[in-house]
Amino acid sequence: MKMRRVLAASSVVAVALAVTACGSASSNNTSSNASGNTANRVSNGGAKQVEIFSWWTGAGESDGLKALIKLFKKDYPGYTVINSAVAGGAGSNAKAVLANRMQNNNPPDTFQVHVGQELLSWVDAGKMEPLDSLYQQEGWNSKFPKQLIDMVSHDGHKYAVPVDVHRGNVLWYNKKIFDKYHLTPPKTWNDVIQDAKVLKQHNITPLALGDKDQWETTMLWEDILLGQLGAQDYDKLWQGQISFDDPRVKQSLQTLKALMSDVNSDHAAKVWQDASQMVAKGTAAMNVMGDWAKGYFTSDLHLKPNVDFGWTTTPGTEHDFMVIVDCFGLPKGVKHPEGTKDWLKVLGSVPGQDVFNPLKGSIPARIDADKSKYDVYSQQAMTDFKKDQLTPSLAHGAAASPGFLDAANKAINQFVNTGDIDTCIQQLQSAFQQNPPV
Ligand code: GAL
Repeated sequence: MKMRRVLAASSVVAVALAVTACGSASSNNTSSNASGNTANRVSNGGAKQVEIFSWWTGAGESDGLKALIKLFKKDYPGYTVINSAVAGGAGSNAKAVLANRMQNNNPPDTFQVHVGQELLSWVDAGKMEPLDSLYQQEGWNSKFPKQLIDMVSHDGHKYAVPVDVHRGNVLWYNKKIFDKYHLTPPKTWNDVIQDAKVLKQHNITPLALGDKDQWETTMLWEDILLGQLGAQDYDKLWQGQISFDDPRVKQSLQTLKALMSDVNSDHAAKVWQDASQMVAKGTAAMNVMGDWAKGYFTSDLHLKPNVDFGWTTTPGTEHDFMVIVDCFGLPKGVKHPEGTKDWLKVLGSVPGQDVFNPLKGSIPARIDADKSKYDVYSQQAMTDFKKDQLTPSLAHGAAASPGFLDAANKAINQFVNTGDIDTCIQQLQSAFQQNPPV
């Protein structure tokens, strides 16, 4: 497992959006503690509470969170949990709501955040408390891989606890369709385009896409880009050592453009779950998505890996692992810091990780989780995570600043409508100049 850090400080784009916040308060029962410690019963004037902010609501997203909250309530009875999940994949709405709350000094007790620049932007803004003593107390310094600890650290201090490790460079396919038409998992994008010819003859959408929230196409593009540049140069791009007008970056857009004619025409009206569902139902053959799609396939749609669906790495990225890590931290000035710490203890424990990740589609961030609780896909992902080159995702906050990501989402989505490569490159280049990495 190797990863060069591509982390930068940046300002967070604060855009107030109209969103639906799903809040649910609940009480608890009794029990023993996930991490083996005595439950902390500190009461805050009788109000034992914790507000958990994420975007895990809805199909394929909420099951793992619910299981984790259930375990928390079992381990720490007496808490009222406010689940402030804001709908919208990849935080497409939640991030703006969070930015607004943080700016108004009204932080949730804890919030979902990606390792890399997304987390560091909050740390650099002076909004997060260090968690060094919690790491010490829970023995986490030797329980998470060093690379992950590095990713949540800044100036030698740790600022968040990773709950999962997702992989972003996965191409999912409907196994029955592939078997029926004698297709094999594509190794190049040209293979995808060739397979598409066969699939279209049978009225099957070759590549499902749902980019209503924009990031989904950015994600498809970053996977093409990684295959085109290779891990080293992909990292160099985010470090500003390779320019956006590099011919290989142009080629990646050319490939994206070509693929768009094999995508469902209503992609802009669909979200990622809709695209996954097209593959599940067999109206589409393939989809590129992070492995939360596997969580959706197995936990919600009850499909079987290697029977109903298959997977392969996106073309050209066989030895790379586009790493997407969700973590939670302790913002400064929260109302219930004890509640936050107790929550973090549960999500950083082996039982916490093993109750969450098998449902979510991700692998545990801890090195000592119970492998037998994971399916064949996740066991392979665990093996790959240890040996592959780890690369930071742009679409999921690690590779570039939040400001750049916002601009890139717009540029890429405009590009799929216009097909204008030069304009897109210019937009990316200038957004990168305005939002550079540290
Ligand atoms: C990612 C997040 C995943 C999953 C996905 C779709 O950004 O890391 O856990 O929720 O978005 O919403």
